[in-house]
Amino acid sequence: MIKINENFQKLQASYLFSDIAKRVAAYEQANPQKKIIKLGIGDVTRALPDACVKAFHAAVDEMAADASFRGYGPEQGYGFLREAIAKNDFQARGANIDADEVFVSDGAKCDTGNFQELFSTDIRVAVPDPVYPVYVDTNVMAGRTDTWSDGRYQGLVYLESTKENGFVPDLPQESVDLIYLCFPNNPTGATATREQLRQWVDYARENKALILFDAAYEAFIQDPDLPRSIFEIEGAREVAVEFRSFSKNAGFTGTRCAYTVVPKDCMAYTSSGEAVAVHALWNRRHTTKFNSVSYPVQRAAEAVFSEQGREQIKALVAYYMDNARYIREHMSKLGYSCIGGENSPYIWIEGGMGSWEFFDLLLNEAGVVCTPGAGFGKCGEGYIRISAFNSAEKVKDAMARIEQALR
Ligand code: MLT
Repeated sequence: MIKINENFQKLQASYLFSDIAKRVAAYEQANPQKKIIKLGIGDVTRALPDACVKAFHAAVDEMAADASFRGYGPEQGYGFLREAIAKNDFQARGANIDADEVFVSDGAKCDTGNFQELFSTDIRVAVPDPVYPVYVDTNVMAGRTDTWSDGRYQGLVYLESTKENGFVPDLPQESVDLIYLCFPNNPTGATATREQLRQWVDYARENKALILFDAAYEAFIQDPDLPRSIFEIEGAREVAVEFRSFSKNAGFTGTRCAYTVVPKDCMAYTSSGEAVAVHALWNRRHTTKFNSVSYPVQRAAEAVFSEQGREQIKALVAYYMDNARYIREHMSKLGYSCIGGENSPYIWIEGGMGSWEFFDLLLNEAGVVCTPGAGFGKCGEGYIRISAFNSAEKVKDAMARIEQALR
């Protein structure tokens, strides 16, 4: 008899964004004449930068001739892309990362979800609350939690991010082994200072813990004093892994390209206390289960670092950040307390009512889709998240509709 992994039965309903899509589909079916504006899931809407498109086309042409055709590439990604990443995203900012510590992949979602496979099922895992649901659900699937009770999985340590702590969680009172952090944060848009990250790095070093640092929204940081990578913090090479993506800065959500940085100094331990390099473990896992990203996509990603690519990406980010500013200003003017939207494409808004109630109100009265904060965890209750990823016209239209609906 084929038996299931019963941990899957502990999972709550469906994935948050599937839940929202179902509600939106039901609304659209009941109101076919109404045009809705989607500011929910953080999916980009603007075309790929021209520099990426040109590189993409040229690489497809290479694949069309026997002499330049390429079959399987290196599982970790082509050297040209790994080198461009190490040089531009890290070494240029004083972070000591080598090309062979970069693993190219098809998404930060997959990598943040898969990384936990390297570790024992009896470790203590700390996740932020509110949280990107992938961190939690993949640990549930792996059997690291008990049952769901009172809005939380028993067995996880929740790091509360609230108005009181400026949405940057305090260090846990107890010892934990695996820590998920995300800055600029999804969903709150909060950022962490160098000093705050330093405290986490120190904690991890003292506790022989590992930080999984999700920096998928790094490109949206405007404040030059904020760290863009955890590897700008001394000692982080020993205790942190960083996830980055081309999805949000360069519009690759449908093209798929991301990368994970695993420094060779990073260690995890056997039950007898022997140190094992996390790099070697991830390399083993990656080469067994993954055949990397297609050659044309890696060439398109490489073009992000060209002179034109850089300019075009700057313009893309600026476009979405104008939307973010508009949303933040508008919602503040309507009397809502907002955070985020200054160094991130997400605005986190206190609604003065239940999250799903506010979600339904905006959907039914304004035809605007947001994301209910409660879907990201208990501390998200009472909040909604609005995403800046849409056209400026639609964002303005959405804000006008919300103003009218809430008047
Ligand atoms: C979000 O809306 O939180 C993101 O789109 C999720 C993701 O990038 O997977």
